[in-house]
Amino acid sequence: REPFTIAIDGPAASGKGTLSRRLAAHYGLRHLDTGLTYRAVAKALLDRGVSLDDEAEAVEAAHTLDLSAMDRMVLAAHGIGEAASKVAVMTDVRKALVERQRAFAAEGLGAVLDGRDIGTVVLPNADVKLYVTASPAVRAERRYHEILRDGGVADRAAILTDIERRDARDMGRADSPLRPAEDAHLLDTSEMGIEAAFNAARALINSKR
Ligand code: C5P
Repeated sequence: REPFTIAIDGPAASGKGTLSRRLAAHYGLRHLDTGLTYRAVAKALLDRGVSLDDEAEAVEAAHTLDLSAMDRMVLAAHGIGEAASKVAVMTDVRKALVERQRAFAAEGLGAVLDGRDIGTVVLPNADVKLYVTASPAVRAERRYHEILRDGGVADRAAILTDIERRDARDMGRADSPLRPAEDAHLLDTSEMGIEAAFNAARALINSKR
């Protein structure tokens, strides 16, 4: 039997990460947060002190990255998301990471992958595709509370500006821009808690299994 794959795309702070983790745990599937793969490549370049547009160095980092050792806490840092979106415009970096992501999805019983281009590029034949979104204001508010909860200091207006800038870069790039796949189910979480989003996603998945 073919692995069962679930593709979850959406912009920063849409709730797709939390939703993906919960769905993977619920269905006993492995989970790959593909944003972390772009973040890890960006972090490798920052650590090596090379420029974020050094494509050769970035491709090398993409090929050698240990997918099972990506540390969410380390990679969550604010500046790394921004750096990741710069690394993510380079076609050869995307090619290298997409190949790794597909290999991950092809193993075992199946997997949940979340990112920006999973339903459109990485797994165009995924069994279930979700596009999770929320208004920029709601996403900025969530990110703000996450930072406070983790003991950080944050500026609401600056967060909103960051989110809008990253959306523009992710949606406007030539290679694999962020957009819903034609056959994706839209889930707008602007006025929906995680529990309601989880239940809606489960109903959809159960209808496809
Ligand atoms: O989801 P996260 O905020 O961790 O992603 C960081 C950046 O990595 C995104 O802003 C995007 O530019 C890039 N990315 C991507 N394709 C993916 C996942 C993330 O281009 N599948």
